[in-house]
Amino acid sequence: MTVKEIFESMEYGEAPESAAEAFAWITDNGARFGHFIDGAFTEAGEGFLSRNPANGETLATLTQGSAADVDLAVQAARKAQPKWEKLGGHGRARVLYAIARLLQKHSRLFAVLETLDNGKPIRESRDIDIPLVQRHFYYHAGMAQLMESELPDAEALGVCGQIIPWNFPLLMLAWKVAPAISMGNTVVLKPAEYTSLTALLFADICRQAGVPKGVVNIVTGDGAVGEMIVKHTDINKIAFTGSTEVGRKIRQATAGSGKALTLELGGKSPYIVFDDADLDSAVEGLVDAIWFNQGQVCCAGSRLLVQEGIADTFYAKLKARMAKLRVGSPMDKSIDVGAIVDPVQLKSITDMIAANDEGELYAAPVELPVEGSFYPPTLITGLSPSAKLMQEEIFGPVLVATTFRTPEEAVSLANNTRYGLAATVWSENVNLALSIAPKLAAGVVWVNATNLFDAAAGFGGVRESGFGREGGWEGLKAYTRPKGKLKALVNTAPNAGKGGLESGALDRTEKLYIGGKQARPDGGYSREIFAKNGKLVSQAPIASRKDIRNAVEAARGAAGWGKTTGALRAQILYFMAENLEARGAEFARRIDAMKGGKSGAKEVEASVKRLFSYAAWADKYDGAVKGVPIRGVALAMPEPLGVIGAFCDDAHPLLGLVSVMGPALAMGNRAVLVVSEAYPLEALDMMQILETSDVPAGVVNLLSGSHAELAKPLASHMDVDGVWSFSSSETSGEIERESATNLKRTWVNNGQARDWFGAAGEGRAFLAQASDVKTIWVPYGE
Ligand code: NAI
Repeated sequence: MTVKEIFESMEYGEAPESAAEAFAWITDNGARFGHFIDGAFTEAGEGFLSRNPANGETLATLTQGSAADVDLAVQAARKAQPKWEKLGGHGRARVLYAIARLLQKHSRLFAVLETLDNGKPIRESRDIDIPLVQRHFYYHAGMAQLMESELPDAEALGVCGQIIPWNFPLLMLAWKVAPAISMGNTVVLKPAEYTSLTALLFADICRQAGVPKGVVNIVTGDGAVGEMIVKHTDINKIAFTGSTEVGRKIRQATAGSGKALTLELGGKSPYIVFDDADLDSAVEGLVDAIWFNQGQVCCAGSRLLVQEGIADTFYAKLKARMAKLRVGSPMDKSIDVGAIVDPVQLKSITDMIAANDEGELYAAPVELPVEGSFYPPTLITGLSPSAKLMQEEIFGPVLVATTFRTPEEAVSLANNTRYGLAATVWSENVNLALSIAPKLAAGVVWVNATNLFDAAAGFGGVRESGFGREGGWEGLKAYTRPKGKLKALVNTAPNAGKGGLESGALDRTEKLYIGGKQARPDGGYSREIFAKNGKLVSQAPIASRKDIRNAVEAARGAAGWGKTTGALRAQILYFMAENLEARGAEFARRIDAMKGGKSGAKEVEASVKRLFSYAAWADKYDGAVKGVPIRGVALAMPEPLGVIGAFCDDAHPLLGLVSVMGPALAMGNRAVLVVSEAYPLEALDMMQILETSDVPAGVVNLLSGSHAELAKPLASHMDVDGVWSFSSSETSGEIERESATNLKRTWVNNGQARDWFGAAGEGRAFLAQASDVKTIWVPYGE
């Protein structure tokens, strides 16, 4: 071939990487692996084969974990935890730093082993996966170092169970293990059954790095082992990355257990190309979006939305590029697309595509290797937005596409999915791109780039893509809790009646407050409310499932609140405080009548102060700018969840209400608040304050009734984005279980009391629960 021909065809020869060292490591271990528990490898037991998906060859035999193995691992982690935490930030930082150094030293071995086991091109494992793994440990060595000074009120959760998928085996391990151990937790991690080898090599590295025994434990096996970890009673937190289906099961299985939970689930991320985009860059971006790791990426730009006027040109350019993609042995350094992780996954992709009879399919004219699990890069255009392939995760190298006309239509198509992991926007017009980014339902947005990751930038989804963030300061929340022990919550029962009307009281029925109007309960029922002295004070409405629906609908309709400025929300919260204070004596009197004694004035005063606090916070809970190592920055922007449903504290009808309403509103959420069950009247009275404080209709809705009965309809409602409970009814488990419908965020008390008058009653913890961080990567600098 002449040089001229080479330039025209861009064909070049093979450049295979050597697998010798990786095979030597496998052989040195007898090609049979046990688990890594309490600092040592266990004897290899009954198990399963780990294969190279590029040629079907067996690499090693792995051990299927048993309940006893999981138990031993948890015991080891439990025993090691206090000492590891007490080692202190600097001590832990040194260990994480040693891990990072060793990962760097052995990076080629890790990259080769990863490619052999997973099938991803060596170019990717060498240049992306493994460097990011190292970066994660270096970054979190720093977090351990800074923990005492920067997070003085935080402590470790304890033992963390971590379950990871096969698409980025070592990288997902790093995302889980590094933040966990940096904050003083210990871990029991289960790698995916197809890809456990680099986790076992990592165990070896832990020994060399001086990680104390029991701090990192690795148990191999299939989903059944994952379930054992999820259900183990001596684990404080579960972190999971994988399919939405399994994530939902884990949400249900952990409900009511008191375990903390973060879920990183599936996606169907839009990739939006506007007509003024640099089309060649956008085409190249797609190679990274959907052909990176054979499309087996949770945040893959798998749904192309292209502006109508340029669609034909763009598709033509894209097809030309696809035809040049090199598919083949992942160990070849010049390969773009490697092997699908396993024949099972290949079949799942093939079946999904075979079942589709819509649109036009273009498969890149590439020669696939005869052996191994390979699938050609594929584009399907002209699909309707509701087509299964537009809605469901394919998790393979298949891009689906449709067109849009206006930016509004692009946003509406982009958000037409149950997922919300990531999104990509291409436009040379920075005004357009940055006006679209906040409108996208996604945890991560890339502007004129795609699939960028860094340890400093939070990653995670909204909607059914899960909750919690990994990376950055925001990621540490998932591995810490506020210091101090909480007391058990004492049940607050309503006063019993002794007959007779309280002096000065009118026999009237209070109303619910829905959509800015007073509303009778749909069922028409109410209940007598007695003062402490047993005299009848009034009737409180009993809200039903239908009232919940009406209140949620009203809250959904008030979406404009989320677009108001923090400054405006601050004004309204100050106004509420002012109006509450003006009527303070009246509120205090009514609280005293209910509770007996003279605590009313103190509660009113604390409530006014709390409203002031959240008015102050409304324009000060800022985001951040992350210095990521690319030609750009990552903006971390707090966004409201949407509609928050909350069961308020029973013992403090006013302060308990204001303490959840304040942060919800300050961050731009709308709220459906089920007020104190024992003392509903004083809380329902708050509607008069809302009416006179310029709070738009539907932003706050107040319901009274049985917390136990309303827990299910509120927590399972598909249009509610978060549910909190500070109730003394035992509803925590039910709320968590029912929240699995749309994987809404939950924050429940698990029967623990909160000091509403003290520091634990307000502040950043509430604001963080009332918002999600969206990470927006934008070009910046040179
Ligand atoms: P999966 O969600 O079943 O597996 C992920 C991990 O969870 C593995 O370690 C597995 O052993 C474990 N697991 C399975 N069932 C479990 C259970 N009941 N309790 C606890 N742990 C359990 O994903 P799978 O079957 O490997 O792939 C199926 C589909 O899931 C893919 O086609 C893809 O659509 C999606 N997926 C999404 C990922 C993501 O990063 N979002 C990663 C992997 C798969």
